Formats: sequence, C-alpha cells, structure tokens
Amino acid sequence: MRVGYLQFNPRFGEVEENVRRALALLSGEEADLWVLPELFSTGYHFTSPQEARALAEPVPSGPTTQALLAWAGERGCHIAAGLAELAPEGVYNSAVLVGPQGLLLLYRKAHLFWREKENFLPGDTGFQVAEVGGVKVGLMVCFDHLFPEAARTLALKGAQIIAHPANLVLPGVAQLTTRVRALENRLYLVTANRTGEERRGGEVLRFTGQSQIVSPQGEVLASSTPQAEEAVVCEIDPELARQKRINPYNDLLSDRRLDLYFR
Ligand code: ACM
Repeated sequence: MRVGYLQFNPRFGEVEENVRRALALLSGEEADLWVLPELFSTGYHFTSPQEARALAEPVPSGPTTQALLAWAGERGCHIAAGLAELAPEGVYNSAVLVGPQGLLLLYRKAHLFWREKENFLPGDTGFQVAEVGGVKVGLMVCFDHLFPEAARTLALKGAQIIAHPANLVLPGVAQLTTRVRALENRLYLVTANRTGEERRGGEVLRFTGQSQIVSPQGEVLASSTPQAEEAVVCEIDPELARQKRINPYNDLLSDRRLDLYFR
C-alpha cells in the first residue's frame, strides 16, 4: 500500500486557491491514501468565532469536501484532510476521510489547542476507524498527539494507520510523540504538517513542517524539512500493524492492566 502526505503552506482565507494548489501538488505522485494538513483549505489562525464561521463549510456538501471527493473519485484514491466544518450548532476543527465511495469518516478535533478553544467547539465524534482497501484507518488532529488515549483508542478499534493532519507550532515535539504513539500501539502514523507563518491579530505563528511517516516499530520511514512544500509517498505493509504481540509473553493490547488504571 502507498501512503503519502502533503506538506504545504496555505494562504489564510484563500480557500479556492489553497484547495487547487494542494491538489496540484499531489498530482505528480500516486498514493492509495493521502494525508493533508489540519485546516488545509482555510489556514489556521482565526481571530474570532465569526471569522471561523465565515470560512467554515458544511461536510460533505461544502466546496472543499466536494473537491476532495471529486479528486479521490477521479484518481481512485483516499484522502484524509483537516478543514473548518460548519455545523448547525457552530464550527468544528474537523478532519474528513474521503474516497471513491464518498465520505467515510468525519472526525471533530477532541483536544483543542490554545486559542482554538475560543473559535471552535470541542469535538464530539470520538475516535473512529474506516476501511481503505481492507486496511483500517483512523483520524486524529494535531494536538491530539499529546494525549496517548487518542491513538490508543484508535488502536483498540483496529486502526492500522493513523492519519494525522496537523498545524504544529512546537518544534520537535510531535516528531517525538508520534514515534512513541506508533511504537506503543504498533501502527503506522502519517503526520501531514504545514509550513510558513501566519501574522494575524497582532500575533505571529510559525508552523514547523517536518511531516513524517512512522512505522509500527517507531522508525521514521519518510520525513520533510521544516520548509519544503512537497508530496511524499512511502510503500508500507499494513499487515505489520495487525501484530500486537511483541514476544511469546507480551501483547501490547491484551497485557493492559485495566484492573489497575484510574484507581
Ligand atoms: C495544534 O493542535 N494545531 C497545535
């Protein structure tokens, strides 16, 4: 199976241009599953809930999800991507998984980071998996990486690959935690981060790039520099992520001591 990520620098508020440019960057490569960054079509740093609402789109009827669906349908591939979702009750920092069959997953970010708490509703979907060509794929978004429960929940639901759209600002942190999340759950983890900076509302946010694909052994199989805009693809064997037994005595999931946790 070929999995890939897109690392790129969207321009804040330029939804049409960002979607067009993201898909153009993917066009030179082929993958079965692509992962795009968090909020890839709008940019990240909203300065008010009103601004988030103005740029958010319903899923799946909004233009961003429709463009992803059309592209996935033409290419026969799947795409996981982060976007601002407009729902009747407000705006979520969401991620979708789409394929030729349509919308497979909608995930609303559970752990909102910093000012996201002012502009988005906390996610209510929980952590779900869906099948892509017989392989189970789960979604988490950016800051979720610092909460081991997110990846563990997806592993318990059978995820062999976690697609992780991100807009990371803390240098080097997720590059470490995602290796640990992959290792402790024996699954592949694909982090698609963005690059560049956003100067908005008197603040500057610098995004750290260094997107990566990590193996169930915690090895970095592919990675990018902090600045490059690029689509990177890697061949993986998802069967390796089914094996949770690490020696004849130990199994990462069934050795858990549920009788001792949270006591
Ligand atoms: C983040 O969750 N975008 C840091």
